[in-house]
Amino acid sequence: MKIRFTKPKVQPNLVLFFDAKKHLALPNDWPTDLTEELTQLLKLPEFGAKSAVYKILHPRLERVFLVGLGKKPEPRELGALLGKELINPDFAELHLLLPEDQEHPILTGFGPFLEGFFLGQYQYEEYKTDDTKKNKFKRLTILGSRKKSLGEALDRAWVMAEGTRLTRDLGNRPANKLTPSDLSLAAQSMSQAYGLKYKRLTEAQMGKLGMGCLLGVSKGSDQPAFLNVIEYQGDKGAPTLMWVGKGLTFDAGGISLKPAANMHEMKHDMCGGAAVIGAMQIIAELKPKINIIALIPTSENLPDGKANKPGDVLTAFNGKTVEILNTDAEGRLILADALSWGVKEYKPDWVIDIATLTGACVVALGHYHSGLQSDSEPLAKRIEKAAQVTGDPVWRMPHAEIYEKDIQGTISDLKNAGGPHGGMITAGLFLKQFVGKTPWAHLDIAGTAWSAERIPYYPKSGATGVGARLLAEIALSWET
Ligand code: BES
Ligand code: MN
Ligand code: ZN
Repeated sequence: MKIRFTKPKVQPNLVLFFDAKKHLALPNDWPTDLTEELTQLLKLPEFGAKSAVYKILHPRLERVFLVGLGKKPEPRELGALLGKELINPDFAELHLLLPEDQEHPILTGFGPFLEGFFLGQYQYEEYKTDDTKKNKFKRLTILGSRKKSLGEALDRAWVMAEGTRLTRDLGNRPANKLTPSDLSLAAQSMSQAYGLKYKRLTEAQMGKLGMGCLLGVSKGSDQPAFLNVIEYQGDKGAPTLMWVGKGLTFDAGGISLKPAANMHEMKHDMCGGAAVIGAMQIIAELKPKINIIALIPTSENLPDGKANKPGDVLTAFNGKTVEILNTDAEGRLILADALSWGVKEYKPDWVIDIATLTGACVVALGHYHSGLQSDSEPLAKRIEKAAQVTGDPVWRMPHAEIYEKDIQGTISDLKNAGGPHGGMITAGLFLKQFVGKTPWAHLDIAGTAWSAERIPYYPKSGATGVGARLLAEIALSWET
C-alpha cells in the first residue's frame, strides 16, 4: 500500500468524519455547495449517533465514506471498519480528509486509527486464485499536512500491522504448507530480513540436551521438530525478556485423538509461536531499549505407531519426569523443554509464554479475552497495561497453587493433565514447574487466536494475530 500526504482539495473517493452531533469535519474553504449538501444528507435518521462507517455514492465525489465518531470514538475500531469496507472493491485509491481541529479524536488517535485501518484491510489470500476476490486497495492519500507526530504515528501503525499480518498469515496457512520445518524457515527468513540473530536446535541436538518432552510429542510425526531461537539486543545494560510461543503446526491430539468436528482448525495451534515471530519483526523495526530472547518450539501432534501413548513417561530437559495421561495435552510438553532450556541458557529476567493451550480457557473466557496467569504482580500489571494500549483484551486468572496437587505424578514427578476442573490453571501451574524462580507470565490464547470476529480490527474469520502487537507493546513500554 502506498500512503502519502497532500494538500486538501476536493477529490473523488473520499473519507469524511462527522461527530455525534452530525457535524462534519470539513475545512473552511471547502466548496459551500458540497458542505451544505452533505450536511443536509446527514440529517437523515440513517446516520445515527453511533460509531459507524456509511458508504454513499455521489455524482461528483463517487464513493464517500462517512465515518461517524459516535459518542465514544474508538479510533482503532473506526479505522478497522473503514479498512474492512474496502476489501474487494473495484477501486484502488482513497482520499482521507484530515480534520483541521488538532484535538479531533481522529488526530489524537491517528496511530490507532491507521493501525485499525491496516489491520481491517487484511485478508488471507495465499490460496485464492480468483483475482476478483482479492483485495485490490493500493493507495491511501491523506488530505492534510504531514506533521511529524502524524508521520511517526503512521510509521508505527504500519509496522505493528505488518507484524500482525505475518502472524495471521502463518496462523491461517494450512498444516501441509506450514510444517515445523516451514515455521522454522519463516522464523529464519524474518530474522534475516530484519537483521536479527537466529538459530535452531535440531532433533539430534535436542536429543543430546535431553529434551524428552518436546521430542516425545514429535515422535508420532514424520516431520522433524525444531526449537527456534531469535535474539534481539536493544541495550546491553537493560533487562532480558524471554518470549516462548507454542508452535504446534497441527494438533490432532495424538493417540488421545480429537473429535473430527473442526479438527481442521487445529492448524492454528502454532499461533503463539507466530505471535512471537510477528512481535520480533515489530521489535526489530521499532528498536526498544530492552533485550529479547524468543523461543519457538515447533512440532506436530499426530497418532502413529511411534507416537506417545497414554501412560508413557517422558523426561524433560530439567530432569523432571512426566506421565502422559492425555497425549492431547502436548503444548505444555513442548513448552516445558523450551522454558527450562531457555531459562538455563539465557538467564532472562522475565519470562512470558504464549500458547493456544487449553480448551478450558475458551470455556472460561470465550473468544474475546486471553487468559493471563502469572506469579509476578509487576509483570502481570505490565501485560494488562500493554493490552489496554493495543486492544488485545486479557483477563487475569489465579495462579492458584492449591491446584498443584492435581498435576503431581503417581509414578512420576508430574503428570501432563490435571483434574476435571481449573484446566487453564493447572496447565499454567505445569508450565511454571519449568521456569524456576524467574518471574513468569502465561498467555493462553486458545480462544483469542482464532475467530474473534466481533472485535472489528480482527478479521471476520481465521487467525486474529493476537499477541504480536501485545508482546511488542510490552517491550516498547518497558522503560526500566
Ligand atoms: N491445542 C489444544 C487447545 C485448544 C483448544 C486450542 C481449543 C484452541 C482451541 C491443546 O493442545 C489441547 O488439546 N488441550 C487439551 C488439554 C487436556 C487434554 C488436558 C484440552 O484443552 O482439551
Ligand atoms: Mn492438544
Ligand atoms: Zn495443542
